Amino acid sequence: MVSRKPTDAHPGHDQPKKLFIKTYGCQMNVYDSERMAGLLKPLGYQETETSEDADLVILNTCHIREKAAEKVYSDLGRIRKHKETKEGQGGEMKVAVAGCVAQAEGAEITTRAPIVDMVFGPQTYHRLPEMIARAARARGEILETDFAVEEKFDALATIREIKGYSAFVTIQEGCDKFCTFCVVPYTRGEEVSRSVDAITAEVRMLAVRGLREVTLLGQNVNAWHGAPPKGDSGEEWGLGELVRHLAKIDGIERIRFTTSHPRDMDKGLIAALGEEPKLMPYLHLPVQAGSDKILKAMNRGHTAESYVRQIEDIRKARPDIAISGDFIVGFPGESDEDFEETMQLVEAVEYASAFSFKYSRRPGTPGASMAKQVAEPVKAQRLERLQELLERQKQSFNKAQIGKVLPVLLEKTGRNDGQLVGRSPYLQAVHANLPDTLLGQIIDLEITGTLSNSLSAKPHENRISA
Ligand code: 5AD
Ligand code: SF4
Repeated sequence: MVSRKPTDAHPGHDQPKKLFIKTYGCQMNVYDSERMAGLLKPLGYQETETSEDADLVILNTCHIREKAAEKVYSDLGRIRKHKETKEGQGGEMKVAVAGCVAQAEGAEITTRAPIVDMVFGPQTYHRLPEMIARAARARGEILETDFAVEEKFDALATIREIKGYSAFVTIQEGCDKFCTFCVVPYTRGEEVSRSVDAITAEVRMLAVRGLREVTLLGQNVNAWHGAPPKGDSGEEWGLGELVRHLAKIDGIERIRFTTSHPRDMDKGLIAALGEEPKLMPYLHLPVQAGSDKILKAMNRGHTAESYVRQIEDIRKARPDIAISGDFIVGFPGESDEDFEETMQLVEAVEYASAFSFKYSRRPGTPGASMAKQVAEPVKAQRLERLQELLERQKQSFNKAQIGKVLPVLLEKTGRNDGQLVGRSPYLQAVHANLPDTLLGQIIDLEITGTLSNSLSAKPHENRISA
């Protein structure tokens, strides 16, 4: 009899192996982690909640935030102890670093953290099973950070774990904008769009499996473009046409997309926001700053005024739309006056939600070596003021829903017994006392109140919309 070592990293079907994935950062990474879990399932890996006795640990990293790499190294320190304990008991643990930190740091990771067996960038996840097998064979490090985007889209599309009634579908990857603060163009590569046929096939598959909502994902999702499907003689499609096409798929009731760039916000998409009922009235459109001097230094390719005008056009098309944004305070050279212009822009736009950050220097980006870096306490003060304003706007947007009847996609059970939690069209979490049998349905609910991060609601009689 040939006995296989219980620690074999390529276990086959007979012996479940424990897989721990930690996801840092953006929704793109959440999506990629789901896919990695899906790819590894046929190899016998089941997800577990802790790295302690995992057979394979994957840190799916993000490079956008401050000190992202340091956080990964500190997590690796903790994992090293688990690995040593496991090895002390005759077991084995493979450790992989994936995502944008992997892409940016490459081989340096294995030098600094020798417990890491594999390092691979976002473009090579589809080759994960092969890498696992190779790592097991070689018992050494593997570096897979080459780009091969088209291949990746195809290989990952059909393999996924589906949870709930809403899913992300990647339609675009990468970025050619080169904002001077950002690492994405270096870590995720150039802008690439997935084909209409591949996207349609994936969304159809999700509809067949009972999903009601899809969120189309991309670093620059509204830069998506593609040839129309065969038989359609029209010109090149933009995101607006793609959305209208996907809206024809039965079962899919809601479509969202994120993240958009002001430079790619074309008329076709704005028209779709006004006309396509399945396209939800929520737009995440980062502006980053309100001073033209700073926007120029950031290489954003738009002005504060052009952004505000764009929002006006969008609101003309869809008056109730919830606008969300990203902001950076304390970019090099930002004076008090520049910051006041950001505050004025926020006052003018009125955001329903937002993410805001202190500028952090990302090595290798132009911003990192710019003169006039802003002192930390100044950044902290500005961030506090900005966040206070954004929070006030969010609360007032939420309060304005009280008394309205909104269709809510009921996604999961709530913390309290008999409670369900769902999303409004504006992406607000909504909870109400309703039976589990309504999970997965879109129900009209009357909004009765607001909490800090959600709305409360009650059933609205005779108003079941799907
Ligand atoms: N410093 C601070 N915030 C950043 N972001 C990206 N890079 C940096 C940086 N170097 C923010 C931007 C972006 C969001 C995803 O993260 O606001 O839109
Ligand atoms: Fe980064 Fe700018 Fe590209 Fe967004 S548009 S991913 S902020 S470079």
